Amino acid sequence: MSSEPHHQASLPRSRRRFTVVLLGAISGAIGGILGIPLGGFFGLPALRSREFAWAEAGPVDGFKVGEIRFVALMPLRRPVWPEEAPRMGAFVSRKADGTFEVFHNHCTHVGCPVNWNPAAQRFFSPCHGGVFDRSGRVLAGPPPRPLDRHEMKVEKGVLYAGEIYSVNERLERVGRYHS
Ligand code: FES
Repeated sequence: MSSEPHHQASLPRSRRRFTVVLLGAISGAIGGILGIPLGGFFGLPALRSREFAWAEAGPVDGFKVGEIRFVALMPLRRPVWPEEAPRMGAFVSRKADGTFEVFHNHCTHVGCPVNWNPAAQRFFSPCHGGVFDRSGRVLAGPPPRPLDRHEMKVEKGVLYAGEIYSVNERLERVGRYHS
């Protein structure tokens, strides 16, 4: 007779515990499901930028002094994301003093791929009339800043292009590129 009330009192407590455990499991599952896309959104860009830290642009001797030429960049590691492929191009400029500049091939307005016109000595954006000089400075149109650059290095006679960064009107580095 005395055990009955005790049994009835313990029943709600065990139900409460069951409910807490159940809610914990459900929220854990929801967190896990949401965590996958959020992890992709926040974590993968960092992975992607590391994957493309350095790419081969070609032998140094293959670039003539004064020439600006489009090159396909060969990533040192295979692309993880197929959509990266169209971004793997750059313009290599070998200046009169023999040093290099490597320009990102996308306009700084809304990202259309720019073309180099050797006769005009200008980069032209096909979308909204953006024009850049051979140093990447804006000459006309809506681009808000000069062409972005790649970090670069020369090793064993080969030119490599690295991370993309932005510059201001004085061509001073102002930050990392964000597409
Ligand atoms: S994308 Fe180049 S001017 Fe608009």
